[in-house]
Amino acid sequence: MTNAVGTRAEAVAILGGTGLTELEGLRVTGEQLHQTPWGAPSGPVVHGELAGKKVLFMARHGHPHRIPPHQVNYRANLWALKEAGASVVIGVNAVGGIPADMGPATVVVPDQLIDYTWGRGHTFFEGDLEGVTHIDFTFPYTESVRQTLLAAAARRQLPVVDYGVYGATQGPRLETAAEVLRLERDGCHIIGMTGMPEAALAAELELKYACLALVVNWAAGKSEHIITMAEIQAAIDEGMSAVRAVLEESIPALMG
Ligand code: HPA
Repeated sequence: MTNAVGTRAEAVAILGGTGLTELEGLRVTGEQLHQTPWGAPSGPVVHGELAGKKVLFMARHGHPHRIPPHQVNYRANLWALKEAGASVVIGVNAVGGIPADMGPATVVVPDQLIDYTWGRGHTFFEGDLEGVTHIDFTFPYTESVRQTLLAAAARRQLPVVDYGVYGATQGPRLETAAEVLRLERDGCHIIGMTGMPEAALAAELELKYACLALVVNWAAGKSEHIITMAEIQAAIDEGMSAVRAVLEESIPALMG
């Protein structure tokens, strides 16, 4: 790796996606704009306290939402969070749902992913390396973090789907109906544009990482209608409170 990240105290970091550009209930204590060897992150790392614990937050698309999925500097974002002291990162992602049990406003904690993205800065291992490192990525999400999220949801009596293959697409356009059928044949359950390379970069930095996905639309061709921004907004309005509740409930447990 080019530069080692200097870290401070350990904290849980939340990378908020569409519909979560700020974290309600976070008592903000400060914010810091990091310069990283990989360029500028999407915005500052917001430091705060949630449920009495130190929490870091970054809006993946900037705040206000301005950076499209294929132009997010995923490397800089994760680097900055690690530098700020993160040891655990929860990526919150808006996704399209494919199977019948993953309709709009469903919360999903996926356990696998397939990467269809291209042309994104997707590794810290490039340039003049002493040795090439191939990280193990058999299980892309940290199981203990997934289980903490699921247990938190159960304590709040919030229905959450405890499995799923996240298909990471390039965007920013949504898929064709035929593409969704292909993704379905591949085994994908949810489709989003920001799950990769984020998960792999977290693994390269040895950060624990899990995804908390909110289904905001039926994937293309899975409903009778085309996908509208109004439909997406309605699902965000309906489902984001559950996402926030799971985050709030899981943070004390994640901090141990
Ligand atoms: N496809 C890809 N990304 C998405 C979708 C979708 O249907 N909905 C929200 N993000």
